[in-house]
Amino acid sequence: MIYSPQIPKWGEKYLEEKEEKLVDYHNWLSTTGIKTGLISQKTDQHIWDEFIVHSLYFYKIIEDLGVKKRSIFDLGTGAGIPGIPISIVSSANVLLVDNKKSRIFELERLIKILKIEDVVVEEKNAIELINTKENVVFTLRCYLSTSSLIKETKKTVKKTKKLNNNIYLVSSNKKNKIKTDKKFHVKHEKFLINKNDYRFIDVITSM
Ligand SMILES: C[S@@+](CC[C@H](N)C(=O)[O-])C[C@H]1O[C@@H](n2cnc3c(N)ncnc32)[C@H](O)[C@@H]1O
Repeated sequence: MIYSPQIPKWGEKYLEEKEEKLVDYHNWLSTTGIKTGLISQKTDQHIWDEFIVHSLYFYKIIEDLGVKKRSIFDLGTGAGIPGIPISIVSSANVLLVDNKKSRIFELERLIKILKIEDVVVEEKNAIELINTKENVVFTLRCYLSTSSLIKETKKTVKKTKKLNNNIYLVSSNKKNKIKTDKKFHVKHEKFLINKNDYRFIDVITSM
């Protein structure tokens, strides 16, 4: 079935500059991605809207926050979502992290096939990175919820007794509205992934 590589107004510049490579990644997801079990069977339009357009909004937030020079750690990356679209449209250093060897293997092949620069893949327990990095941006799509992420992060803050100045971007849903608390500020971003459908990303910063 023919799909439309659309993007709402907020993302037009990403498509103008990098449509060809984003479409190549879409083709890889809808063939190798499905065949190797990195993603389940989905329509081409679903893969484009939910995986690629959704991922690009993570980078829009990074640009809006003025932190595009920071390293980006995509935790629980799976098929490279959102880390691969981010590295296609940016010049940021992106580390794709997953604890499953088979996913790492396929992602390493993908990066070579698509010739994507400034991206590295690592097999690692994401929790270790949450507990050790400072001054970075973490992206998490469908891996940990905002409340679990805050719980993990609070453990580290308690141990080291200092704030790590990290930014966490976590996919979320409408109902899942977490209140800002004493240590973390949570901003709920709502955006269109196509003409009709909204999605949410929580922007979490420590205070
Ligand atoms: C539901 S998938 C989401 C994948 C992708 N981010 C997406 O949005 O499609 C969750 C991923 O997290 C990985 N994962 C689970 N626990 C992990 C851990 N402790 N450290 C790193 N990756 C983990 C899984 O192997 C899986 O690829």
